[in-house]
Amino acid sequence: MNLFDLSGKVAVLTGASKGMGLEMATALAEHGATVVISARKQDQLDAAAAGINEAVGADRAIPVACNVGQKEQLEHLVAATRDKAGPIDIVVGNAGVNPYYGPTSDIPDDAYEKTMQANVQANLWLAKLAVPDMIAKGAGSMMFTSSIGAFKPSVMLGTYGMSKLALIGLVRNLAAEFGPNGVRFNAICPGLVKTDFARELWDNPEVADRIMKDIPLRRLGEPEDFRGLAVYLASDASRYMTGQALTVCGGSNMWA
Ligand SMILES: NC(=O)c1ccc[n+]([C@@H]2O[C@H](COP(=O)([O-])OP(=O)(O)OC[C@H]3O[C@@H](n4cnc5c(N)ncnc54)[C@H](OP(=O)(O)O)[C@@H]3O)[C@@H](O)[C@H]2O)c1
Repeated sequence: MNLFDLSGKVAVLTGASKGMGLEMATALAEHGATVVISARKQDQLDAAAAGINEAVGADRAIPVACNVGQKEQLEHLVAATRDKAGPIDIVVGNAGVNPYYGPTSDIPDDAYEKTMQANVQANLWLAKLAVPDMIAKGAGSMMFTSSIGAFKPSVMLGTYGMSKLALIGLVRNLAAEFGPNGVRFNAICPGLVKTDFARELWDNPEVADRIMKDIPLRRLGEPEDFRGLAVYLASDASRYMTGQALTVCGGSNMWA
């Protein structure tokens, strides 16, 4: 038996046209899943789906545009997934936003609401929409992208970190609520990863060098580093794991 086999499984992912989401989608498809990938920009999404299908040599990726900040767009995403691929087995809530850099005490109300809605509430909406399929099957796995920013205060990224800590709280609650139905929920906490999202933090050699000195593996994260964990959490390999926050950061954050 292949513990990591995802043949016949249906996965829906948010924030999956590039960066970590695209790598996770590709890895799930390579292990046999049909992946419905979503993001806001249709053209990037279409190109991402074509890339996945070429990589796996089969029509296994379906692009559906969705802005996670809009509840009705998430409803459409879940309905389109059922329609095009079937009942959902795997959810990857990966989309996240950070519209504001600065002290939490100064954040404008609209930036606060946007951060909390996209990073926390949207994942609750997505989970509630998808969980009936998993309850019906008595099995399912949802994973949500948090951040190591959840674990410590910050004067520049504090509200973002707060939202990612709240997301871990959401994951724990859902794990407790739906564990009896066989549905698992886990959070993925990346360190600094070289994607467009974090470009301002790593695209400066001096800053990148300073950060790397505190990373035992002495490099920044790459989107590909998240492939293995996505497949692990989606598959039976992790069948007794739920309610956890798994840190993937080259060792910059260790258990404390
Ligand atoms: N990179 C890091 O260092 C780092 C560290 C910790 C946590 N994270 C988290 O990792 C996740 C993925 O980020 P990434 O670094 O892989 O970023 P990325 O390469 O910039 O990709 C972000 C993806 O999310 C989509 N997206 C952005 N806003 C969206 C919205 N409102 N609704 C739906 N899709 C949206 C983007 O496509 P569209 O623009 O077309 O929508 C894209 O597909 C985020 O939750 C982020 O908070 C990142």
